Amino acid sequence: MALTSFDLKARDGRARTGVITTPRGEIRTPAFMPVGTAATVKGMLPESVRATGADILLGNTYHLMLRPGAERVARLGGLHKFMNWDRPILTDSGGFQVMSLSELRKLTEKGVTFRSHVDGSKHELTPERSMEIQKLLGSDIVMAFDECPALPADRKRLTDSMRLSMRWAQRSRDAFGDRPGHMLFGIQQGGLEEDLRAESAEALKNIGFDGYAIGGLAVGEGQEAMFGCLDFAPGQLPEDKPRYLMGVGKPEDIVGAVKRGIDMMDCVLPSRSGRTGQAWTPRGQVNLKNARHADDPRPLDENCTCPACTSYSRAYLHHVYRSGEMIAGMLLTWHNLHYYQQLMQGMRDAIEAGTFVAFEADFQATRALGDI
Ligand code: GUN
Ligand code: ZN
Repeated sequence: MALTSFDLKARDGRARTGVITTPRGEIRTPAFMPVGTAATVKGMLPESVRATGADILLGNTYHLMLRPGAERVARLGGLHKFMNWDRPILTDSGGFQVMSLSELRKLTEKGVTFRSHVDGSKHELTPERSMEIQKLLGSDIVMAFDECPALPADRKRLTDSMRLSMRWAQRSRDAFGDRPGHMLFGIQQGGLEEDLRAESAEALKNIGFDGYAIGGLAVGEGQEAMFGCLDFAPGQLPEDKPRYLMGVGKPEDIVGAVKRGIDMMDCVLPSRSGRTGQAWTPRGQVNLKNARHADDPRPLDENCTCPACTSYSRAYLHHVYRSGEMIAGMLLTWHNLHYYQQLMQGMRDAIEAGTFVAFEADFQATRALGDI
């Protein structure tokens, strides 16, 4: 029997709900993956991340190879043990982060050489080395090594880049080999161009992956353009495999992506913005920095069951944020991750019940009310 699987339970329109099974546990889809770039979801204990409802975390090849180093993590027993998270971990392959974070990058057919943003040291990432690092980390869902051009990019640049990513996808598949219990996902590229996305999907399907990501979106094109692409891109990928939209997004982006057939997503937004005083609630975004909260004894969200909302006032959250206290980021990150996971659970339930249209209408109507 296969050690991993994807079982669809229900569909509603193009939205789907199901379960990815791995030896480290089940991932309920649609799934939101909190980002744990440097072997931590900043400001959260792993058991707290789990308490918000997360089934899986995302880690980064790029950051972990530079610090503390993949070989070191392997010697210490792998990433799960190192960071005290025993459930599934998906790792991004590094190419995307190299392009946005490192210095003096050089891109060739073989891979990318670059200087570390941490200490300036020189490194190389290739599809083969990325597969090796993700294996050393012990990642459950390994991402193929790809390149993602910033948008807007001209058609020639998008075409060349996508075809390079497809050659790297084949090399990733060959280097990954056969690893029962671990999954390898390919990454579709091609910008906003339907024919390039189709060509990329065909290339990936011919290689054969355990899941398929949509890369190259949420890179500055705006929500309307992204939704336009998501109107066709998921349908180009296999029905019976998970579809993962990389790096998305705001709550409204997530609802729109699930509606269009996406099963998995990740984003730094709920954790990063928690550390800058931003909270998300069903009524939209709330900025706890704002002086209007200074005397407000009410909770951030009276219906939320997270620690920030059950035990503290808006006035307190405002005060600790303004005072630069660590607990501000901790509480707001917890709340945001809790809200995101509640949103995912709401969508999973609605898809199963066949009420996704009503769910989306209610989501939008509640946001239209604005913060209390
Ligand atoms: N994260 C967000 N977008 C991308 C992408 O296109 N490729 C990879 N590897 N990671 C991403
Ligand atoms: Zn809350």
